Amino acid sequence: MPRKKISIIGGGQIGGVLTQLIAQKQLGDVVLYDIIEDMPQGKCLDIAEASRVDYFDIKVTGTNDYKEIDGSDIVIITAGLPRKPGMSRDDLLTTNAQIMKTVAENVKKHAPKSIVIVISNPLDAMVTLFKNISGFKANKVIGQAGILDSSRFATFIAWELDVSVKDINALVLGGHGDTMVPLVRYANVNGIPVMELLERKYKDKAKADEVMKALVERTKMAGGEVVKLLKTGSAFYSPASSTIAMTEAILYDEKRVLPVCAYLDGEFGVKGYYVGVPAVLGANGVERIVELTLNDEEQALLDNSVNAVKTLVEDMKRLGF
Ligand code: NAD
Ligand code: LAC
Repeated sequence: MPRKKISIIGGGQIGGVLTQLIAQKQLGDVVLYDIIEDMPQGKCLDIAEASRVDYFDIKVTGTNDYKEIDGSDIVIITAGLPRKPGMSRDDLLTTNAQIMKTVAENVKKHAPKSIVIVISNPLDAMVTLFKNISGFKANKVIGQAGILDSSRFATFIAWELDVSVKDINALVLGGHGDTMVPLVRYANVNGIPVMELLERKYKDKAKADEVMKALVERTKMAGGEVVKLLKTGSAFYSPASSTIAMTEAILYDEKRVLPVCAYLDGEFGVKGYYVGVPAVLGANGVERIVELTLNDEEQALLDNSVNAVKTLVEDMKRLGF
């Protein structure tokens, strides 16, 4: 069977780590595209020169030419700029939307059969724009956010309970912003509700609620916490790992149930918007949305997050995209 071809548009921090992980895991040949001359070529040469020690024999190609992505099976988009001092949210939205427009036109031209994973921020708007411009089917255009946000929630729960993170199941719904919805009621440690374990730990329900509230807030602000520490740029190791989980689910037709930014056509009461929800990921991309029962409080939080996504998408339209 010929090797799969995975192209990454945007060879910055996330693009570089993604290339290395795909090579080390031998998921397929990688093309790393960026507009900065020689940079993706330099990163790929560096990664390729570790092939003997890392023991992979796949091809990693850095390029400034979209032709190289021809025939890709999967395209991952990380292209975009972070907000700079003096730049408004609208400025950033305009800049990144302009970048995404060019990227979508080129992916449509060179890799029309690919499944696309969008990482660029503002995520919910960028994935929407990619779909609108490419005209790709909704199941083939997916945003990455929920796996990362859920992994952050799981990590903080594991630290609090002093148990292995491998045994934590935690799910975050909604947009990739401050309104995201970590689902407390569904969080569990190998089936045991996290709230029960917190109440046992603190022997006080009010204290357990207070601790959980802090874990939820930290999850919602986790991207900003990393930005503050890094001083330049944002998280890149964990976003790259999260994208690898999606890539493997698609390449190996795993039918994994993962929280992703998926197009909703009535599910969760939302029609025509990309929102973070659990979905089955397999060879056809998003194969179906997995709905779950929300209580009134959870539904209100999700509605609030969906409204934030709608505002973002409307803002993007107002700016001409
Ligand atoms: P980065 O600045 O290191 O890399 C972005 C790259 O995009 C740069 O190398 C830049 O040259 C390139 N680029 C700019 N314009 C381009 C164009 N027209 N075509 C191709 N490439 C172009 O940023 P990063 O840390 O790798 O993050 C990438 C994006 O992912 C950002 O938008 C960031 O906010 C976002 N992000 C998303 C998540 C998530 O979970 N969805 C998490 C972290 C970061
Ligand atoms: C994050 C932002 C940058 O780290 O998307 O979640």
